Amino acid sequence: MVRLMKYLKLMFHVSILVLINNFIKNQKQTKIEKRIERYIPDMKHILMWTKLPNVEEEGQQYFITHKCEHINCYFTSNRSLLMDLRYFDAIVFNVQDVSSQSSDLPKVRSTVQKYIFAANDSADNYPVCSPVYERFFNWTWTYRLDSSIPYKFISVYNIHDEELGNNILWENFEMKPVSKLFISSLSSKSAAAAIYLDKCTTISRREIFLNNLKICLEPYNLTVDVFGPCGNKKCGRTSLRSCYYRIRTTYYFYLAFEDSIATDYITKSVLFGYNNLAVPVVLGGAEYSRYLPPYSYLDGVKLGERLTAKLMYEAIQNKTKYYEFFNWRNHYTIKESNVLDACSLCQLLNSEGWLKTRETYTTFRNWWNSNYMERCKAEKRLNMF
Ligand SMILES: *[C@@H]1O[C@H](CO)[C@@H](O)[C@H](O)[C@H]1NC(C)=O
Ligand SMILES: *[C@@H]1O[C@H](CO)[C@@H](O)[C@H](O)[C@H]1NC(C)=O
Ligand SMILES: *[C@@H]1O[C@H](CO)[C@@H](O)[C@H](O)[C@H]1NC(C)=O
Ligand SMILES: *[C@@H]1O[C@H](CO)[C@@H](O)[C@H](O)[C@H]1NC(C)=O
Ligand SMILES: *[C@@H]1O[C@H](CO)[C@@H](O)[C@H](O)[C@H]1NC(C)=O
Repeated sequence: MVRLMKYLKLMFHVSILVLINNFIKNQKQTKIEKRIERYIPDMKHILMWTKLPNVEEEGQQYFITHKCEHINCYFTSNRSLLMDLRYFDAIVFNVQDVSSQSSDLPKVRSTVQKYIFAANDSADNYPVCSPVYERFFNWTWTYRLDSSIPYKFISVYNIHDEELGNNILWENFEMKPVSKLFISSLSSKSAAAAIYLDKCTTISRREIFLNNLKICLEPYNLTVDVFGPCGNKKCGRTSLRSCYYRIRTTYYFYLAFEDSIATDYITKSVLFGYNNLAVPVVLGGAEYSRYLPPYSYLDGVKLGERLTAKLMYEAIQNKTKYYEFFNWRNHYTIKESNVLDACSLCQLLNSEGWLKTRETYTTFRNWWNSNYMERCKAEKRLNMF
């Protein structure tokens, strides 16, 4: 019934749109230049300047299927849907294009619409070099907690299935030990650590940390098995998925090293460890203690290679210590969340206060990546300054 109502409402909107469209088409084109009116007062039209990862559908479907609080948003990548670009409530620009400094940008702009920077990947992988993006974006939609519309790759929930949000301050209590039954599922483990590498050289230089860690593990007679295109180990097919069983049955630790070190950048790679009962050893630019339950991982950046290796060895030697890495499971769950969660985008487009506030990222390149000068120079994009 509710679905039907929504459908009828959508059809109503579309028919009004067509009517008004035809009406205006019959008028002189110049009229639009003078006065920009909304077609449908409560529908927010969002133009994806170029295709966004994760948003497959045009129209309202995303907001309906994801059961968003607000569904009066309309995604399109058709730049001429509304005859004039200034009719769109928001225009979303994709980090990959912004970073590759495409010269294809809108020629006209309304002062009330929002230009939004959307990023599904890290600032260090995609620095922005072109100065045209200073004083360009009104909002940002990224994994950074200080974005206008932040999203997460992973979310933590408590036992009441409540999402714990950002910047988690963990309650200080003694965690319950895991059961004997659970412990029995760890009994087949026999090798220290595995990693799946798809990019062999990275900006985070995780391959260097990995080599140092291997050297530090050697005196303990421990090794790291490298799977994927950059390693010599295979688990059936080449995909990561086919490695899940191997990780679960064989390895004590999973090395969840990010391909770039950037503020708040913690991708779902930790889940390959957590979901396969291998304790993650993390390497990245996020303050992990605000994202992951206490004593559920080892932080490679904080500990360094030598201490990481020592703690891995100690946990493998002393099983009581190793099992403690799983105690958090009695109190929390960790799940993958929606990258570029468009429900929050639609919510913000429905927030009067936010809409009325005029704002711009004046030094955008520096906000996104404070090291952008170096990075752009290194990539020989100097001519852009
Ligand atoms: C874009 O929208 C316009 C106006 O509704 C329509 O005429 C055109 O066919 C659309 N283009 C595509 C590729 O769907
Ligand atoms: C972001 O999207 C691009 C293009 O779809 C994809 O290749 C890339 O892996 C994505 N990045 C992340 C961190 O998921
Ligand atoms: C590593 O293996 C060697 C040779 O088998 C052995 O002598 C040494 O004690 C082992 N070291 C540790 C820390 O287990
Ligand atoms: C093993 O670890 C547990 C928990 O950290 C600790 O209480 C115990 O003393 C350790 N045992 C040995 C032999 O080190
Ligand atoms: C968006 O930024 C532009 C460029 O700085 C500015 O002119 C405009 O007023 C801003 N609009 C909103 C709605 O914040």
